Amino acid sequence: MMTDDLALLTAQVDALLGEEGDLLVNASQFAAFIWSVLPRINWAGFYFLRSGKLRLGPFQGKPACNPIELDRGVCGRCVQLGEPLLIEDVRAFEDHIACDPASRSELVVPLMADGACLGVFDIDSPEPGRFGDGERQLVVALVGEFLRLTPFPEALGHYPLP
Ligand code: SME
Repeated sequence: MMTDDLALLTAQVDALLGEEGDLLVNASQFAAFIWSVLPRINWAGFYFLRSGKLRLGPFQGKPACNPIELDRGVCGRCVQLGEPLLIEDVRAFEDHIACDPASRSELVVPLMADGACLGVFDIDSPEPGRFGDGERQLVVALVGEFLRLTPFPEALGHYPLP
C-alpha cells in the first residue's frame, strides 16, 4: 500500500461507512477493510475505552487479549501519549502484550476526538519492521476518516489528555 493510494482508499472508506453512522457497523467494516488491503498482517482491530480499560472491539484475526489496562502494553502507552506508535520489533518493547506470539511488529493509532482518546486501532504483523512512516501516515489518515464518519455514544469512556 502506497501513500499515493490515499485518495482511493479514503473514497473506499467513505463508501463503506458513509450511510450508516453506527459505531459497531463502521468499526466492523473498517477493521475488515484494513485487513483486506494491507498485506502481511496477522491482526487488525479496535480497542475502545470502557469502564477505565481498553476493551476489545471489532477486529480481524485470532481472538485477542481483553481487557488491557491503561498502563499495559503498546496499546495502553498509545492511549496515554495520544500519539501513534510504530513498533518495529515488539520483543524490544518492554511490556508488549503478546496476544499472538507470531506478532513481530505493530502499529497502533489512538482514536482522538476533542482532545480525548476514545480507544485505539491496532495492526500487528508477523514480519519485523513491517510498517514504515508512509504507511503510518496513511493508516492515521484513514483512521481520521473513520472518526469523521462515526458517532461515539456518550456512554463510551474516554481518556482526557493534557
Ligand atoms: N500488542 C498489544 C496488545 C493487543 S494485540 O496485539 C491484539 C499491546 O501490547 O498493547
